[in-house]
Order: sequence, then C-alpha cells, then structure tokens
Amino acid sequence: MTTTANTRSRRWFAAWYPAFMGRIERNGQATLRHDQLATAAGRALEIGAGSGLSVPHYPAGLDELVLLEPNPAFRTQLRDRVRELPVTVSILDGDARQLPFPDSTFDTVAASLVFCSVDDPDRALREVHRVLRPGGRFLFHEHVRGGPVRGVVQDLLTPLHRRLADGCHANRDFEALLDASPLAVTSMAHRRMPTSLPTLVPLVVGTAERRPVTAPERTARVETGGRLRDNPVRGGSPR
Ligand SMILES: C[S@@+](CC[C@H](N)C(=O)[O-])C[C@H]1O[C@@H](n2cnc3c(N)ncnc32)[C@H](O)[C@@H]1O
Repeated sequence: MTTTANTRSRRWFAAWYPAFMGRIERNGQATLRHDQLATAAGRALEIGAGSGLSVPHYPAGLDELVLLEPNPAFRTQLRDRVRELPVTVSILDGDARQLPFPDSTFDTVAASLVFCSVDDPDRALREVHRVLRPGGRFLFHEHVRGGPVRGVVQDLLTPLHRRLADGCHANRDFEALLDASPLAVTSMAHRRMPTSLPTLVPLVVGTAERRPVTAPERTARVETGGRLRDNPVRGGSPR
C-alpha cells in the first residue's frame, strides 16, 4: 500500500471504528474491559489505544498511564477521552514492534483488539515482555481464530477485513502466538464478542506475566509442539 493510501485507510478506520464499537461496548464489551482493567496497577502502558475505549476503565490509583497509538487520526478522540482522568497520562506515537521504552519500565501492559493488526506480532509480544518489570502483568483482550469451521470463514474473509479495518487479521491465532512468546499465561477465559460479525466473535481475555517459564511448563511445550493445551489456568466455553 502506498503512503497516501495507508493514510487514507487509517483516517477512514478512525472515522467508523468508534461508531461500530459503540453497540458492542454497550452490549457487554465495556464490562469485560472494566473487570479486566480494574486489576491494572503502578506504571501502565496501553498499546494501540485507538479511540480510547479502554481509557475510562483504568483505576484511579494508577501511578501513570501511557497510551501508545500510531494512527494520528485517533489523536483528537484520545485527547478528549483522557481529559477527565484522575491519573497522569501521556499519549505517544509509537510501534508495538519497537516500544520506545527501556527494559523493565512498566508494571502493567494492556492491549485490546490490537494483535490482529500488528505486523510481526511475535516481535511485539517480545517487546511487551521486555518492557514489563519482572512480575509485571500483560492484560490481553483479543479476538482470535475460531474452531475449524469458523476458522475457514475467517481465512476467507481476512483479505476483506485487512482492507476495511486497517490491517485486521480476523484469522490470527493469538493463543498460539502467546504460547510461543516469552510471557507466561496465568489466566485466560474464552468469551464471545457481542457482535453479529461471526469473524470477530471468539475472544480471549486474560493475563500473562513476565516470569521465567518453569521446567514442567517447558516440558509441556515440547510435548505439545509449543502450545500449552492442558494449561489449567485456561477456562471458558468452546468456540
Ligand atoms: C481494532 S483497533 C483497537 C483499538 C483499541 N485498543 C480498542 O480496544 O478499541 C487496533 C489498534 O491497533 C493499532 N495498531 C496497529 N498496529 C500497531 C502497532 N504496530 N503498534 C501499535 N499499535 C498498533 C491501530 O492503530 C489501532 O488503533
């Protein structure tokens, strides 16, 4: 895509995305955000903050909140959202693949509906790991690849999604990416996004930590070819 087409596509996305999400948020997505982000603590970073739908859900007790968003067309909406927040907030341009922070900067890193659109998501997850303090927590909330039938539908519609939704890969297997990353998943619930778009329905909401992977976990990874299929921290309904 040329730079001009890219800019146009980003502007177009920033124009329709908040309205599209409005109903979904009212139908339950906002509650998911709220329950998860209530656990954010200390210095927090949100990657790909978009129009700021998560912003009102951060707790007032945070030491600092940094919102990273590379699409300049979202900047005004983000500024409006943070105006009333009783927390020190900064809004930065930046890329999840090369986070502009030293190692071990944050206690919390949050991302919602972002890893579907990041090019090179493996690298971005390594960056999340790098900027977290040991024991720091990654709060993820992502739509994911569905079961066999839905997965095929997602494969077929992903080229269209990418064009219309600023690079969104509806078929991205975020769970596999997370398992292969240096982060240790400590909780994961399978949920359903309250939308009529079947390509976006399967959601995972959970937490991963920056901690060394234990020996049993490492063995499980080898035995399952990289995925922690029997990880007891996982819960939720089938997709
Ligand atoms: C579907 S929107 C989600 C916005 C917001 N997090 C939410 O929950 O509504 C995806 C966001 O990821 C951002 N994004 C895409 N690639 C990125 C990257 N490499 N680094 C950081 N953010 C990125 C986009 O600009 C966009 O704001």
